[in-house]
Amino acid sequence: MTKPTHSRREFVAATATAAALGVFGTAGLSAVSAFATPQPQPFVPAAGLIPYGSAVRAGALESDPAYREAIVANCQMVVAEGEMKWADIRPARGEYRFEKADAIIDFARQNRLEVRGHTLAWYGGLPDWTNEISSRAEAERELVDHIKTVVSRYRGVIPSWDVVNEPLVDFPESAASLRPSVWTRQLGPDYLSIALRTTAAVDPAARLVLNEYDVEFKGPRFAARRKALLQLLRSLRDKDVPLHGVGLQAHLFADRDIDRDGLQAFLNELAALRLDVLITELDVVDYELPGKVSERDALVARKAGEFLQAVCDVVRPKAILTWGLSDRYTWVPIYFKRPDGMPNRPLPFDADLKRKPLFDVIEQFRRRPA
Ligand code: XIL
Repeated sequence: MTKPTHSRREFVAATATAAALGVFGTAGLSAVSAFATPQPQPFVPAAGLIPYGSAVRAGALESDPAYREAIVANCQMVVAEGEMKWADIRPARGEYRFEKADAIIDFARQNRLEVRGHTLAWYGGLPDWTNEISSRAEAERELVDHIKTVVSRYRGVIPSWDVVNEPLVDFPESAASLRPSVWTRQLGPDYLSIALRTTAAVDPAARLVLNEYDVEFKGPRFAARRKALLQLLRSLRDKDVPLHGVGLQAHLFADRDIDRDGLQAFLNELAALRLDVLITELDVVDYELPGKVSERDALVARKAGEFLQAVCDVVRPKAILTWGLSDRYTWVPIYFKRPDGMPNRPLPFDADLKRKPLFDVIEQFRRRPA
C-alpha cells in the first residue's frame, strides 16, 4: 500500500463512545461489552482540511487486514455500506440485530474514526416482512420504533445520519414525485417529517442529512431532480422539519457531463437555506471507459475533479466520502459490469490497495482553504 501524504493521524479524531452515556443499555440489546472503554472527544479536523472517509464492510474489516490498515491509514470517517440498513438490522419483525453495525462502531472507536449513519428511511434495503405493513398506524409505529432504537443506541457515537435516502423518483415532476415504498404507500410524504422529527427528538445533537443521487449532471432529468429536491427541501423548511444538510451521493458516470452551472445554482440555493453539503458516496462508474488502466484511471480522476471543482468553488463540503476505498470492495459491478469483462476501477485505491489518481484529486480538494 502506498503511504498517504496526509495520514488520518494528523487529525485529532475520536468517536465519542456511547457506553458512558448508557446508550447501549436498552433492554434486549446485546454486544454491550464491546464498547466498554469510553473516550468521548470531539472530532476536530486539523489544519481545516475537509475530512475524508469511506464506506466500509464489516466482513472485510474482519477478514482482510490489509484493507483494514488502508482504511485506518487514509480515512478520518467511515460509514457502513450495508450494516445499518433495515435488512441487516431488522431481519425479522420485532428483531433487532446489531452485531455487524456494532463491529463497525467498535473498529471506528479503536481507530478514532468518526462514523456516519446510513440510513433510516429509504425505499431500498428493506427486509421482506416490511411488505406486510398494511396500515398507516403500523407503518408509523415500525418507522418510529426503528429510529428510536437505532439512533438511541448510537447517540453520542454517530454525529451525522443520512436519515432520508433517495426520496425522489428517477425523473420527478415535482417534490410530490416521491419514490414508492412502504413508507410512501402508508404515510405519504409525512414519512419524511416523521423520520426527521423522530431522529431529532432521540438525538438532538445529531446532524440530519437528506441524501440523494443524480443531481450533478447535464440534461433534463438531472435539472428536474435538482428542482424537485429544492422544492422538497423548502417544503420541509416551511413545516419546520429539522434538517441540517444534503448529501450528494456523487455516483459519477464517466460518460455524463457535470452541469457546473446547474449544480452551482443548486448549491447556492442550499446555502441560502443554510443547509450543509456533504459528498457522501463518491465513485466513478467506469463501465463505458476504455479498458487501458492508466487511461481509465486518469479519466475517472478527471471526472471527479470536475465535480469537486464545481462543488468546492461555491461551498465547502463538510465531508468527502467515497463509496468504498478500494476497487477490491465496490458495489459498481453489481449494476455496471464492464462489457470487456475487466474489473471496474471506480475507487481511490485499486484492488491491490495501490493509490490511484482519484485519491490525489480528492486530497487536492480537501486541502483547499475554507
Ligand atoms: C449499496 C451497497 O453498496 C451494496 O453493497 C448493497 O447491496 C446495495 O446498496 N446508494 C446508496 C447506498 O445510498 O446505500 C447503496 O449501497 C448504493 C447507492
